[in-house]
Amino acid sequence: MQSFLEQLVEKHKTAAHEGKLADYIPQLTEQNPLALGITVRTCDGDVYTAGDCPIQFTLQSISKVITLILALMDQGEDEVFKRVGMEPTGSPFNSIYDLEVKSPGKPFNPMINSGALVVSSLIQGSTVDERLERILGLVRDMAENPEIEIDQAVYHSEGVTGYRNRSMGYFLKEFGIIEDVESTLELYFKQCAISVTCDDLSRMGLCLARNGKNQAGEQVIPQPLARLVKTFMVTCGMYNASGEFAILVGIPAKSGVSGGIMASVPERMGIGVFGPALDEKGNSYAGVRMLRDLSREWNLSIF
Ligand code: DON
Repeated sequence: MQSFLEQLVEKHKTAAHEGKLADYIPQLTEQNPLALGITVRTCDGDVYTAGDCPIQFTLQSISKVITLILALMDQGEDEVFKRVGMEPTGSPFNSIYDLEVKSPGKPFNPMINSGALVVSSLIQGSTVDERLERILGLVRDMAENPEIEIDQAVYHSEGVTGYRNRSMGYFLKEFGIIEDVESTLELYFKQCAISVTCDDLSRMGLCLARNGKNQAGEQVIPQPLARLVKTFMVTCGMYNASGEFAILVGIPAKSGVSGGIMASVPERMGIGVFGPALDEKGNSYAGVRMLRDLSREWNLSIF
């Protein structure tokens, strides 16, 4: 297993040249486009790791899985899904068009940016910091790493350039879906800037694979919610590439524009991937290819 992972990294490292760093968040262009790493943690306690695994990167959209869990814990399914749908879209993750034309005021799902803004607005707490601490608390419990923090440079970089998210926030306010847009955006940009490693992501994926139990045996996510978010990861986790990913890889997974992917093979393993050069849909170019080969080699598809 270990040598297979090392071969995977070697094979796909050069393919990263085909991808491109996300540059609409300027700080993300500081990342090394050729970095590539993978960590696998199995339910039996085995760990395999290859490539650039010590590198820190930000969760970005992977945080949408965590905030969805918290919003559901806080508000229940009825309240959350009154405001955000359960259907995949064929559009990019930051599309404004769908929100105006196809489903006015109700984002299609919680994994696209508009849906994630609604979800973040539903997380309880009296201040942004209190709400952020709850998000960080769940990430730390899933990853069993109490040191996880925010990358302030990435947060500030998105905070001053996040025009499209800001537009969508105010658009949603017009429909009465979000009340306090600025505090929702602050929370959203901060959750996206939570800084992790491949190892953290593999533990988070493992926690979902173990139906919400971390490796220490604590039930940190209620079992039905672990199942629900894994289903969203299959249908919407890789955005408008989710269908192709389901066919080629067949594993619940969530990507972020920093190049991270958290994958979770139910009852078997958690996988953390990092490769910041992205394909045209915003998923790690080499990361998706490594997961495809891994899934074929180890027969990981859930279908
Ligand atoms: O809101 C944004 O655009 C980013 N903070 C997160 C987007 C993202 O990660 C999409 N992923 N592939």
